[in-house]
Amino acid sequence: MAPASIESSAPGKVILFGEHAVVYGQPAIAVPVTEVQASATVEPAPPGSGLTLVAPDLGTGFPLAAAPQDEPLAAAARLTLTHLSAPEPDATLTVRSTIPIASGLGSGTAVSTALIRALAGFLGRPVGTADVSALVFEVEKIHHGTPSGVDNTVVVYEQPVYFVRGRPVERLTVGAPFTLVIGDTGIRSSTRRVVEQVRRAWQRSPAHYDALFDQIGDTANQARRAIEAGRIDLLGRLMDDNHEFLIELGVSSPELDELVETARLCGAMGAKLSGAGQGGNMVALVEDDCVEEVTEEMREAGAVKVICTKVTATLQRIEKTTD
Ligand code: MEV
Repeated sequence: MAPASIESSAPGKVILFGEHAVVYGQPAIAVPVTEVQASATVEPAPPGSGLTLVAPDLGTGFPLAAAPQDEPLAAAARLTLTHLSAPEPDATLTVRSTIPIASGLGSGTAVSTALIRALAGFLGRPVGTADVSALVFEVEKIHHGTPSGVDNTVVVYEQPVYFVRGRPVERLTVGAPFTLVIGDTGIRSSTRRVVEQVRRAWQRSPAHYDALFDQIGDTANQARRAIEAGRIDLLGRLMDDNHEFLIELGVSSPELDELVETARLCGAMGAKLSGAGQGGNMVALVEDDCVEEVTEEMREAGAVKVICTKVTATLQRIEKTTD
């Protein structure tokens, strides 16, 4: 009997604290953004047709066999087949995403996650969460060169995480709910390029940049304590501090600063750029009764997309886990 069609999805993400410094061993805090999603569908194809990868949003479709090694969709499919020691199936795998591309919201990460899960499901061999995360991390290396691992962790685990490179995943307890408004500058940004730029700057003045990374790490640790304790009133200032450090790192842009400033002026408790920077998205911490105004003003100030997401309180204590 031919295998049935299968669909899988994965959320976007937003980094609340610690981007860039996390590449250098400092902690980061990130949360999933379920309002935007990537999905992958695998459908059976006639015998002998092999696996065809289709991305209608990008206007592309190609057989796996013809794809270069560093094509990210093909890489995710090949890594999955190798991991499962499975032969290439006769199937069509279609990926779609509502997550803005190259904007710091984890579009590529979510597409890889959905693809790996859907393909493994189609083969009747579901892959565990830690293994999916490890496979997505391998694809991230193609996208980003030297990823820290925070993006694949938050997207695959779909929970708020406190992440330190090379350490077991820590799911973050959220003591009280809080609301985020995320604004897209509409300017695409290459994580690989910005991470490389920061690396070159660090190589030129290691002491200066190490001190900045320490300050960012310290801010992330203070934020973790505030989030766990439900002290949302403390978070905004920490986001503002983190944004200043990112400006000093050279990864902000006039458009990001404008949206951050606009959000603060119309009542956000704090705001910062999120992700690699130099374009992409910023995130603001907003009281529920200000969401509408902040959203409207950010649109006026040039945001091409605004997403509101709620981080809900979780009851479990911080738990270290490898799965
Ligand atoms: C990109 O979403 C986050 C960075 O810190 C890079 C990384 O952690 O791999 C800029």
